[in-house]
Amino acid sequence: MSDIEAIKDRYLEQIESAADGDALEAIRVAALGKKGEISLLLKTLGKMTQEERQSEGPKINGARQAVADAIAMRKEAIDTEALNARLATEKLDLTLPPPSTPKGSIHPVSQVMDELAEIFADLGFSVATGPEIEDDWHNFTALNIPDTHPARAMHDTFYFPQTDEDGMPKLLRTHTSPVQIRTMMDVAKQTDGAGKPIHIIVPGRTYRSDSDATHTPMFHQVEGLVIDKGIHMGHLKWTLETFVRAFFERDDITLRLRPSYFPFTEPSAEVDLGFTVEKGRRIIGGDPRSENGGWMEILGSGMVHPNVIRNCGLDPDVWQGFAFGCGIDRLAMLKYGMDDLRAFFDGDLRWADHYGFDALDVPTLSGGVGA
Ligand code: PHE
Repeated sequence: MSDIEAIKDRYLEQIESAADGDALEAIRVAALGKKGEISLLLKTLGKMTQEERQSEGPKINGARQAVADAIAMRKEAIDTEALNARLATEKLDLTLPPPSTPKGSIHPVSQVMDELAEIFADLGFSVATGPEIEDDWHNFTALNIPDTHPARAMHDTFYFPQTDEDGMPKLLRTHTSPVQIRTMMDVAKQTDGAGKPIHIIVPGRTYRSDSDATHTPMFHQVEGLVIDKGIHMGHLKWTLETFVRAFFERDDITLRLRPSYFPFTEPSAEVDLGFTVEKGRRIIGGDPRSENGGWMEILGSGMVHPNVIRNCGLDPDVWQGFAFGCGIDRLAMLKYGMDDLRAFFDGDLRWADHYGFDALDVPTLSGGVGA
């Protein structure tokens, strides 16, 4: 056997018994590396005679190829063995819970808006919306609040520096009441002034220059408006009672209507919610006249002022109605127990996780009103 055959066989044996990738790599370097034994033999070809080269060349190249092939094969075998060993020891536990992925939640304000829409839908109300950038006329004048009226000052209005093309001051609406105006005007237009019944709620953003634990410059209101024939305060009281009982999910809630003043309603009433204190906690419901009971104000309301109906192009001798306006954020705080309104709009995800609602597990009031 020639030297080359012997060298080749030695490497093939070593390769066969190489235990792992490192051992195999050491063999490769020793045989085929830059200064490897077979590489050096290849270099000797250059100094040989033509005949020597013709006889030795194929042998040396053959040896190089055989060793390289053997290394590749052994490497594959070693990798397969390693994989099999891992598969034998590492068992996948399919019963483990999957790693959690971050999940968003429904903001309590959105949740309460959905609840409002659902409850009032059961009472035959639809949802109306309007612009947040309003003009002075819709936000004030049409609502029977003339230029000089002190109620304007009470609203801490954000005005825009420029007026619109007609010289009308623009502002961020201070309440949802301008949507009453827009809705009644639309109806007057559609019916050529004849009018038709209106039952709407208007949830939305409102703005006033005010900030403390219970006030933020942007907040949410829901407006209610009913325009129909023969509507009176009894309808208003029943509607509000039915609403709060469905919303707070208790049948023993009482309301108190206190005479009040709004330029756009006459008569006007502030509405108080009866509560009782149980074990130091305020519970909405129970007997507010009992020793541990009391009243808290929740909304403003009244019979729509005839001037407002007339301003919208409808006849107040034919059409009457009631309206109310209520803070949505405050409803959420009362129902779900937050104590600082500012946290609603800070965007802190820990707050959202704690107070938010699961999009797929939202408590719907599917029992419905009066169920
Ligand atoms: N718009 C009033 C406010 O924001 C609330 C209200 C609405 C009162 C409708 C009476 C009728 O203060």
